[in-house]
Amino acid sequence: MKETFMPLQTIQQLLDEGVDGRHVLVRSDFNVPLDDEGNITDAGRIDASIPTLKALLDGGAKVIVTAHLGRPKGEFKPEFSLKPVAEALSERLGQFVALASDVSGEDAHERANGLTEGEILLVENVRFDARETSKDDAEREAFAAELADLAADDGAFVSDGFGVVHRKQASVYDVAAKLPAYAGYLVEKEVETLGSVKDNPAHPYVVVLGGSKVSDKLGVIEALAQKADKLVIGGGMCYTFLAAQGHNVQKSLLQEDMVDTCGKLIETYGDKLVLPVDLAIAPEFDKNAEKKVVGLDDIDEGWMSLDIGPETAQNYAAAIKEAKTVFWNGPMGVFEFPNFADGTQAVAEAMIEATKNNDCFTVVGGGDSAASVRALGLDEEGFSHISTGGGASLELIEGKELPGVSVVSN
Ligand code: 3PG
Repeated sequence: MKETFMPLQTIQQLLDEGVDGRHVLVRSDFNVPLDDEGNITDAGRIDASIPTLKALLDGGAKVIVTAHLGRPKGEFKPEFSLKPVAEALSERLGQFVALASDVSGEDAHERANGLTEGEILLVENVRFDARETSKDDAEREAFAAELADLAADDGAFVSDGFGVVHRKQASVYDVAAKLPAYAGYLVEKEVETLGSVKDNPAHPYVVVLGGSKVSDKLGVIEALAQKADKLVIGGGMCYTFLAAQGHNVQKSLLQEDMVDTCGKLIETYGDKLVLPVDLAIAPEFDKNAEKKVVGLDDIDEGWMSLDIGPETAQNYAAAIKEAKTVFWNGPMGVFEFPNFADGTQAVAEAMIEATKNNDCFTVVGGGDSAASVRALGLDEEGFSHISTGGGASLELIEGKELPGVSVVSN
């Protein structure tokens, strides 16, 4: 497994060199959830971007920010516009954040050229340009050159979108070859914190994994099974493990093609894997659905499990409370439905208790788990670290190389 990506070329070095009057292109991750009216429902990633932006603005930089929202597949789609993000940024920075109507076109260039010291511009969603995510290196490079051009001759690039550093995309990876490149405060903090969990976890080390697909977590399960003392499995992916144990999971989420793989994982790492012993089931996938707690072999015909049961939650909480390191990625159930949020809440609360009472280092690995902490109204300060990266934090913990970090590593 690779060692932590260090040393990084840091934003502090850039600030020490001086940014006054220079254009600085920053890649942030503003891929935030929106409701049906286009309102941001969890601004965690925007909040986390502020220290880097503020430091650059305070240093007198002319800041140009690039980011993506959703997967618009290379076309302008108004529902994926960064407009709500520009407004949220303006509020948090206490200054106007202009939004260019294009990504690297005329409007972006004119506005970038017109910036004065301490002003900030957000360009439109980089994924409105198909070259951003192209598999063709030359296409990505051409787009990266246009983005780098926004920062003129004296520019620099700051990689601060931790949530997207696992993507080899033009604004994350290729652009860094075209300008002096540095890691922003967020990337630095995430890499240091998650890197220490990857390389030197204090034991007992408990990993809690949820989320809907086993296939997405296979690499991480295999990598972590070597390092962790316990792998606690919940969420949509646990039903494929339960099916591999021979239980009839009825209409619960199931990846048929992964049942054999899960069977092998149970065979190989059985003593480390912690699986549910009871479930909270419903007749349908609905916020107001009836809830029943049952044993693993008692799911009613045609029903589905939407959460781990109370005995399971207790077992999981007990494992967490004994740990010295906990890494958690993926909710235990459909926490968006209040009736089926208990498992997720129990895990999160046990982590808060472990942090406080057992000197445990607790990390929430981004994505839905970070959103669930905020949605359930839990104290964010109660955890040692809440990552802004879902896929990125998993890939880092798994030991994979992250393109957006490699480009700012010495
Ligand atoms: C995320 O939300 O995990 C990141 O912003 C990356 O988004 P992507 O999975 O669409 O590349």
